[in-house]
Amino acid sequence: MHSSNKKTDMIVVRDLHKHFGGIRAVDGASIEIAEGSITGLIGPNGAGKTTLFNVIAGAYTPTSGSVSLDGEDITGLPPHELFAKGLLRTFQIAHEFSTLSVRENLMMVPGGQSGESLIDAWFRPSRVREEEKLVRKKADEVIEFLEISHVADELAGNLSGGQKKLLELGRTMMVDAKIVFLDEVGAGVNRTLLNTIGESIIRLNKERGYTFCLIEHDMEFIARLCDPVIVMAEGRVLAQGSADEVRANEEVIEAYLGTGLKNKPAKAAATTATGTAADAARTEGSAGSGTGAIS
Ligand SMILES: Nc1ncnc2c1ncn2[C@@H]1O[C@H](COP(=O)(O)OP(=O)(O)OP(=O)(O)O)[C@@H](O)[C@H]1O
Ligand SMILES: [Mg+2]
Repeated sequence: MHSSNKKTDMIVVRDLHKHFGGIRAVDGASIEIAEGSITGLIGPNGAGKTTLFNVIAGAYTPTSGSVSLDGEDITGLPPHELFAKGLLRTFQIAHEFSTLSVRENLMMVPGGQSGESLIDAWFRPSRVREEEKLVRKKADEVIEFLEISHVADELAGNLSGGQKKLLELGRTMMVDAKIVFLDEVGAGVNRTLLNTIGESIIRLNKERGYTFCLIEHDMEFIARLCDPVIVMAEGRVLAQGSADEVRANEEVIEAYLGTGLKNKPAKAAATTATGTAADAARTEGSAGSGTGAIS
């Protein structure tokens, strides 16, 4: 553990447990996510990463333990309340949104616009029109920021996997997000689009002040974006440090070896591959698991 130049912790998770019957998916995990950081969360399959995200983001209530956001206890709050506080977890574009355009998908993000209220729509139509104009303007700004203007009017269902991920990221920009949790944003995404997604994350972090926590199996991606990197194994935090530190950590290497070479965070994976073999392996879904990677 290193804690030099201590920053303010935005998220503090203390001794968190989430058990499913006898399965201790999260088994006493404690983590901190510093304000303004891009924190990586890695670990072998089944380590409990997604479950931890689900508890933090309110999809599951924990068996025990606590989660705080900016010093406020948010343990067990439902997702919509966390959303209102600026804590967002991206989800795959839901099926019913696939027949809406990219711009429409962005405009659908709940942002407290009065157009959603029937009473406003009936009694204050001019205000609703005014707000719709603003929402549209905001959507166009997001589209420009993510450099996806060429697909603004495309149906979301027709986008490539990587473009869908960018749209998911874009949805977080329609509200005032503080912290965004991304679970395997790179799964099934080609190298070029993964780089674009990475650049967008970095820009959102630098230019908009977003804090990020991202789960990813691609160590090259993690190393380029994340500091610190938290390593989970068997429901607990195994190590934390810079990407290089955790990659060199014996316990971390052992944890990965235990699950086979597929997820080994070896230097080999980091040798900047223009390697088409690596790319092919990614798009065939070997980098991710269980997230229904979009092809
Ligand atoms: N809803 C559930 N019911 C029962 N067991 C679950 C549930 N969700 C997760 N688990 C179990 O909890 C453990 C941790 O799973 P989790 O999905 O959090 O791991 P992960 O680190 O995200 O793995 P991966 O890298 O494969 O996505 C696994 O053993 C998994 O089978
Ligand atoms: Mg997972």
